[in-house]
Amino acid sequence: MKALVINGPNLNMLGIREPGIYGSHNYDRLVQICQEAGAAQGFDEVEVFQSNHEGSIVDKIQEAYGKVDGIVINPAAYTHTSVAILDALKAVAIPAVEVHISAVETREDFRQVSYARLACFATITGEGLQGYAHALELLREYLEK
Ligand code: DQA
Repeated sequence: MKALVINGPNLNMLGIREPGIYGSHNYDRLVQICQEAGAAQGFDEVEVFQSNHEGSIVDKIQEAYGKVDGIVINPAAYTHTSVAILDALKAVAIPAVEVHISAVETREDFRQVSYARLACFATITGEGLQGYAHALELLREYLEK
């Protein structure tokens, strides 16, 4: 079983970026949490990808077709704007979980819309970086069914 974790813009700035909202851990720690949680959940491989570019994220989702069993995605700011990422997730129809580090539901109005959510079977918000471990657990349970 292979999982792909996709992170959108500015998540490479974790640790520097608004630590009061996103915490003090950096992107390397996010990758480590995903690798450890993936192994604990029995995934043979967890690839962790980050891009600041919408088209690169669409390319990555398309490339996953036929190769990846499940996706965990934090589209970051593209959550609230990107029909292209939604359409890519729908096109490949790979089971996907949406993750947000912060509790987006308690933040600005413009963060209340999520396009990606429409192609995800679950959403996790406000659990910090551990939300990725939770997402991989939900993905494994879903894939086992
Ligand atoms: C985020 C929430 C988004 O609104 C924001 O644009 C991000 C990160 C989160 O993980 O909490 O970049 O997806």
